[in-house]
Amino acid sequence: MKPPAFPSCAVLWLLAPVPPGSRIDAFRHEARRTLARRAGSRLRWAIWFLTDRARFWALYREALCHLTAFFRDPDVTAALRHSVLPAIVKRLSDKASIRVWVPGCSTGAEAYSLAILLAEVLGECVAARPVEVLGMDRSEEVIGRARNGFYTLAELHGLSPARLERFFTPENGGYRVNGQLREMCSFSRHDLLEDVPPGDLDLVSCRNVIGHFVNRSRHSEVFRKLHECLRPSGFLVLGKNEPLCPPPGLFSTCDLRLRIFKRVELPSSTQQA
Ligand SMILES: C[S@@+](CC[C@H](N)C(=O)[O-])C[C@H]1O[C@@H](n2cnc3c(N)ncnc32)[C@H](O)[C@@H]1O
Repeated sequence: MKPPAFPSCAVLWLLAPVPPGSRIDAFRHEARRTLARRAGSRLRWAIWFLTDRARFWALYREALCHLTAFFRDPDVTAALRHSVLPAIVKRLSDKASIRVWVPGCSTGAEAYSLAILLAEVLGECVAARPVEVLGMDRSEEVIGRARNGFYTLAELHGLSPARLERFFTPENGGYRVNGQLREMCSFSRHDLLEDVPPGDLDLVSCRNVIGHFVNRSRHSEVFRKLHECLRPSGFLVLGKNEPLCPPPGLFSTCDLRLRIFKRVELPSSTQQA
């Protein structure tokens, strides 16, 4: 969900009442919550908006930069559930671990959504199968929230009642991820540009990060990194909000609209270069 382009519209967008339970509501809820947490209270961010615009906009940009949601895009979710994850499970032997990396995972919704989809694809085999979903972000604060695994009902808007019941436990007016998801997911601080990525991955899901946050001069370097950390034929999912595609030669295209790609092997001379 993109906020409106003009600053005054953006504030109206943030403050306007919307029917509870809609996807927009979940985004707005998160933006308001982050603003209030950063400023100390909603009253204070409203005062900053009226009196100190520079400070308010810095806060506003930061609040929006972590926006995320469970099952954020139904088309991408369907492709993962029915095509990408079944292909990964089929390709690996029954005992091999399935390794997924989510760089720029924000507060954990994308990583937990992938773990839920994997649990559904694996069915009864999920208990016997090692699964590692590695959620990482450069912000220590959002990683803390992801580890905590506690969400309000508004934040869980994308979940069906059946998934909510199976994977979450009600607690203090909200919901906490249950033991099964906790075992599948781990979270740590990691900067996609500066730090060494994990290896031997079957899937990298890097949505709403590269085109929005990474300086253009470093795009090729990041795509090369994402290529190197994948296993042969591993998948790269950028999602349909991503304006960029990887440079030619590193990946074959599975779905251009949803920005889903598969690693291709480079000739050995190119790999060493
Ligand atoms: C808009 S959120 C996207 C969250 C999630 N991937 C999704 O699509 O719902 C972008 C996240 O990327 C993180 N991020 C931006 N640049 C990063 C970098 N260089 N390394 C790691 N994380 C980064 C931000 O901290 C933010 O939490």
